[in-house]
Amino acid sequence: MAWENELGDQLFHQHQKYLAPTGLIQYYNLVIDHATGAEVFDVEGKRYIDLLGSASAMNAGHSNPHVIKAMKDQIDQLVSYDAGYFPNPTTIKLVERLAKIAPGNSPKKVSFGNSGSDANDGIIKFARAATGRSYIVSFNNSYHGTTFGAISAGACGPEMVRKIGPLVPNIVHVPYPDTYRCLPNETEHQIALRYFDLFMRPFNSYLPADEVACVLMEPIQGDAGIIKPPDEFVQLVYQFCQENGILFAMDEINQGLGRAGKMWASELYGIEPDLISVGKSLASGMPLSAVIGKTDVMEQLGVSAHVFTTAGNPICSAAAMATLDVIEGEHLPEKSAQDGEYAKQQFLQLQDKYNFIGDVRMYGLNGGIEIVKDRQTKERDQDGAAKIIFRAFQKGLILVKLAGNVLRFQPPLVITREQLDEVFAILDSVFSDFESGVIQLPEELQNMSW
Ligand SMILES: Cc1ncc(COP(=O)(O)O)c(C=O)c1O
Repeated sequence: MAWENELGDQLFHQHQKYLAPTGLIQYYNLVIDHATGAEVFDVEGKRYIDLLGSASAMNAGHSNPHVIKAMKDQIDQLVSYDAGYFPNPTTIKLVERLAKIAPGNSPKKVSFGNSGSDANDGIIKFARAATGRSYIVSFNNSYHGTTFGAISAGACGPEMVRKIGPLVPNIVHVPYPDTYRCLPNETEHQIALRYFDLFMRPFNSYLPADEVACVLMEPIQGDAGIIKPPDEFVQLVYQFCQENGILFAMDEINQGLGRAGKMWASELYGIEPDLISVGKSLASGMPLSAVIGKTDVMEQLGVSAHVFTTAGNPICSAAAMATLDVIEGEHLPEKSAQDGEYAKQQFLQLQDKYNFIGDVRMYGLNGGIEIVKDRQTKERDQDGAAKIIFRAFQKGLILVKLAGNVLRFQPPLVITREQLDEVFAILDSVFSDFESGVIQLPEELQNMSW
C-alpha cells in the first residue's frame, strides 16, 4: 500500500537510514515542517490537529508568540553561559519563580537540568543525600526517562532495559493501582486498600523502611495509558512516607503545568511532595528541566553533584518565563479542566456508539481511550489501535497510542473549541471506518510498537 505523503515518506526513510533505531518510535511516516497553536503542518503542507502536543511538551501551544519573542530577545542579549559558574538575570528570575509556584507552602529550592530524565536522576541523588538512605521505591509500568537513574526507576517494559544493565541498584518497584482492570465490582476504596497492601509487602518482608530514601511516583501514569490511582491510595502512601522519614517525590514532567486540570497534578491529592521533577512544557519543549524541593532537602547535595553546562540556559529560561506567563495569564489549568470535561463527554458519546471503546479516562485535556476486543474481557486491541491512529493520521490528526492499545489524547492546552469539535468529527469517521473494517495498515506498520 502506497503512502499518500510521498515526500514525507521519503524523508522519513532517509532519516531512518542513519538514525539509531532506539531514537524513533515508529507510528507513521510523518515529517513535520512547522506548527502553530494546536496545528502542525507536514513537509507537504498538509495540516494536522496535534493530539500529542509534542508528548505533552507544548501546553502553551506551538510557536506561542509570547514565548518566541522572549527567546528572540534573549538571543540578542546572551545565548549561553554556564550558570553553574555565573548566572544571568533571566535564569535568576526563573529560579525564584519556580521556587514560589511549586505545590505547597514550604520554602523551596530549585536545581536545573536539560531533560525530564536527568531531573529524575536528580531526585534520586537529592533524596539519597538528604536522608543518608539508599533505597528508592517506584512503581511498575511507570516511565521516568532514560538516563541511568530514570530508566532504573521506570518499569515500562523489558525492551527498554534489555542488555544495558546493571541498572542503578536499590530501586524497588511496586504495583500502581488500576481502576479499570480491577477485580469484579471492586470500589475505589477497596482498590486503594488492596494496592496499599501490595505497596506494603516489600516493607513487611525484606525492605527496612528506615533504609528507604524516597518514593517516586507519577501522579497519573502517562505512558502506561493515562492511569490515575484513587486519591486514597496516594494519601496512604504519602502518610506512610511521612511517618517513616521517607521523602515523597512526584514526577510532574508529563502531568504538571496544567495538563491534568491543575497547575500541578499533585494538587489532585491535596498533598505537598518533598520533591518534584518538571520538564517538557516548562520551556515549551526547549531543553530545560528542574528538580524543585523543600529547602532542607535541596541543601544536602554536594557542590557539582547535579550540574550541567547548559542547565538553566538563558534562552531556555526566557522560554520558561514566557511559558509560565501564558499558562498563568491564560488560565490554562482551568481551561484544561473545562475542555477536558467537554472532551470526556464527546468520547463518552462515541463510546455509546462504538463497542470497541472500552474505557474513557480523562483528567484535564489528558486522556487515555482504551481500544479493546471485548468490553467484558477488556482484552487489548493493539492492532485495532494501530489502525485507528493510522487512519486518524490520514484524516489530519496526530494521534498515537500508549500501552499497545490506548489512544493518547494530550493536545496543546490552547486548542480551541472549534478545533476540538473538528477532532471529534474526524474521530467519529475514523471509528466508523474501523468498525466497517476498511482500514489497511502499510506493511512497515504491521508491528507498531509502544
Ligand atoms: C512522566 C515522565 N517522566 C520523565 C520523562 C522523561 O523526560 P525526557 O524525555 O525529557 O527526558 C517523561 C517523558 O516522556 C515522562 O513522561
